[in-house]
Amino acid sequence: MAQFKPDSGSAGASAQATTVIVCTSCRGADGTDARPRPGENLAAAVKALAPAGVAVHGVECLGNCKRRLSAAVVSPDSWTYVFGELSEDSAADLILGAELLRDAADGVMPWRGRPDSLKRGLVARIPPLTKPEQA
Ligand code: FES
Repeated sequence: MAQFKPDSGSAGASAQATTVIVCTSCRGADGTDARPRPGENLAAAVKALAPAGVAVHGVECLGNCKRRLSAAVVSPDSWTYVFGELSEDSAADLILGAELLRDAADGVMPWRGRPDSLKRGLVARIPPLTKPEQA
C-alpha cells in the first residue's frame, strides 16, 4: 500500500474543506514500529476514497494512542469529531462520516446513518468556535 506522508493533503484541499485528519503514527495490535504503520495505511486508504470537497491530512499523533487507530473529522462551522478504535478497514466509514458532517445544515454529524465504527469509537466532539451554542 502507498505510504502516506504526514501533513499531506488531498488534491484540491483547502483550509475550508471538510477534512479527515488521520493519525499516521498509530500502531497495530502487535505494537511494533514496523512501517508502514497501520495508521499510514488507513490514511492512504481514506485519501484514495476521498471525494471532491473532502480533504485528508495525516498527523503524527492525535493524543489518543491508547484507543488504537485514531482520526478526526473537521468541517467549517461544525462540531469536530475525534474517533478511536478504528482499523485499517475504516476508510469508507470515515469518508461517510465526513460527507454526513459536510452536508449537515446544523453542523452536527447525524447519529442516524453514521457507521457503527463512528458510533462506538467516538472519543470526543468539540463545538465550533463560531456557533458554540448550537448542539
Ligand atoms: S500515535 Fe496515533 S493517536 Fe497517538
